[in-house]
Amino acid sequence: MVNPFQYGSVVSGDAFCNRTEELRDLRRSCDNAEKLFVYSERRLGKTSLVRSVLRELPQKKFVAVYVDLWPTDSENSFATTTARAISLALASTPKQVLDTARKMFRQLVPSVSVGEDGTPTVSFGTVTPRRPEIELEEVLEAPAVIAAQGRRRVVVVFDEIQRVLEYESDLTERKLRSVTQHQPDVCYLFLGSRKHLIQKMFLDKSRPLYRSAGHYPLGPIAEQHWAGFITKRFEAGGKSVAAEAIHQVYRLTEGHPFYTQLLCHVLWELTEPGAEARADRIETALRIVLDRESHAYTMLWESLTGNQRRFLRGLASEPRGVKPFSSEFTRRYGLRSASNAQRASENLVERDLVDPENGSFVIVDRFFRLWILEQHRG
Ligand SMILES: Nc1ncnc2c1ncn2[C@@H]1O[C@H](COP(=O)(O)OP(=O)(O)O)[C@@H](O)[C@H]1O
Ligand SMILES: [Mg+2]
Repeated sequence: MVNPFQYGSVVSGDAFCNRTEELRDLRRSCDNAEKLFVYSERRLGKTSLVRSVLRELPQKKFVAVYVDLWPTDSENSFATTTARAISLALASTPKQVLDTARKMFRQLVPSVSVGEDGTPTVSFGTVTPRRPEIELEEVLEAPAVIAAQGRRRVVVVFDEIQRVLEYESDLTERKLRSVTQHQPDVCYLFLGSRKHLIQKMFLDKSRPLYRSAGHYPLGPIAEQHWAGFITKRFEAGGKSVAAEAIHQVYRLTEGHPFYTQLLCHVLWELTEPGAEARADRIETALRIVLDRESHAYTMLWESLTGNQRRFLRGLASEPRGVKPFSSEFTRRYGLRSASNAQRASENLVERDLVDPENGSFVIVDRFFRLWILEQHRG
């Protein structure tokens, strides 16, 4: 029996919990050809959610283009990666893919190969001398051209959009703004997992994409939805789970999808076939998870300065939403001044260890938080 709790990659179907409202919201954005930033911490379920939205779009009315920008590092790789996603969204046989790519992208030189399973893949070289501006324009105009030709709405998803901040210049951002704002039939969903960078992209006046798109922060999944989901998953696998155990899981993970799946995965392993997972097993499940990570957490901890550790310990110990620059906080955790706390928080944000949230911060890795608490217990 395979473990019904999956973590690490995109989940769909039975492995996908709730998000009914979000699915509906994003579907509406597709219908209305909105431009939207969808952002959250890492592993909160953006990719899984948006891929579900795309999967359910009726093919007669929509062309869905999903672009993973994670492997890109330059304007050029942005252009070729996007061109590739567009070509593959439009055609299915190798010949079609090649024809489409040739017709659509004059600045790029496509070549098609066929994988072992018979599906075509396409890659692009560039013509020389390169003209990055024209290259980008051509690629970004393509969705509008497709929409006009086929009378279909086009939905383009740029996943890991914060990558563009690492390119040599802000050309991509500028082009994204100038080209996409004249595309009334194309929906753009920009997905990003470094919350503070994404917010900077659309809230900072000096950035090209400032206010160019709406924003849609994605949150954790509520306890009531997890309760139904976890119960069903246990039952489908011939085991059961106590309501109190689910409550404990939720308390520890705060409804964060990745950590909830991870903890349930271990809880499932600990439960005999046909038996019930009880709340008194949660400690053990957590122990196993923390032991697995303990080496990495120790290394991480040792790489931090004294003030950064004090800051994290304070955050881990206090209720969510605590004001870490208050004199009470800095006194209690030995930070001595608000500016020390400020500096520590800036570094931790930069390293993606904490995320700003409503004047406070969240430790991104929920289990790192629990590990910190454990280290300082007693
Ligand atoms: N709706 C969901 N239901 C159940 N598990 C989910 C859901 N969304 C995300 N997860 C869990 O979180 C993990 C990370 O999801 P992913 O979509 O890759 O997040 P992100 O794109 O935000 O980094 C998945 O592997 C899965 O374990
Ligand atoms: Mg993702």
